Amino acid sequence: MSFGRLIVATRNPAKLRELRELLEPRGLELLGLNELDPDGALRIVENGRTFRDNALIKARAVAGAFGVPGLGEDSGLSVAALGGAPGVLSARYHGLTDAELRRVHPGYPGGRRLRVPGAEADALNNTRLLAELEGVADRRAHYTCALALVDAAGGILFSTRGEVQGLIGDRRRGDGGFGYDPLFHPAGDERTFAQYRPEEKHAVSHRGRALARLTTYLREVAP
Ligand code: IMP
Repeated sequence: MSFGRLIVATRNPAKLRELRELLEPRGLELLGLNELDPDGALRIVENGRTFRDNALIKARAVAGAFGVPGLGEDSGLSVAALGGAPGVLSARYHGLTDAELRRVHPGYPGGRRLRVPGAEADALNNTRLLAELEGVADRRAHYTCALALVDAAGGILFSTRGEVQGLIGDRRRGDGGFGYDPLFHPAGDERTFAQYRPEEKHAVSHRGRALARLTTYLREVAP
């Protein structure tokens, strides 16, 4: 099987940029949904409970819509003191109620009424996270990235995951990366991911680790 081009089930430009930085040097061209479906006709309901479930849902949605193999990526930040939240709800964290968070993360402490409405999702997610962890000593967190590659009929060809452990800082630092990166200190580092150069982040990140496994697979089946 050959994969010169792959359709990635994402509309997140920052995520697509990272996936391209990681896969294009290996000769793989990636197309995202904003290019293939600019009007947003393809609606993907990410209602899985795990990163892997959601990666598969996304990959299969692409395969079903375009009749070609699809790559699904689902990722997020799990914070120990928040019972693993926001986890699979990371992208929408700022707008969620306690009850919505507890449905997926039963250990979510709640009672904080910190729903932050608005459009600047990344900035608001960070605002909420800082507020919820104010005065909390346990700052442990990790990022997870799940990848699923399916064939044109939706059958799983390969799936994998990558993680990176770290701590949530007490304020934003740096302006690189995206999402929660200004708050995320990889274990043992004073700097946040937002202070890393892109290739430095890729070398240790959840996404970099998962994609390294995917490229090993691709080299084996489509050398
Ligand atoms: P998804 O599109 O549902 O997979 O949402 C992933 C969300 O997790 C993003 O919107 C970010 O909030 C967060 N996230 C995932 N990976 C990263 C990363 O590498 N840096 C910062 N935030 C991330």
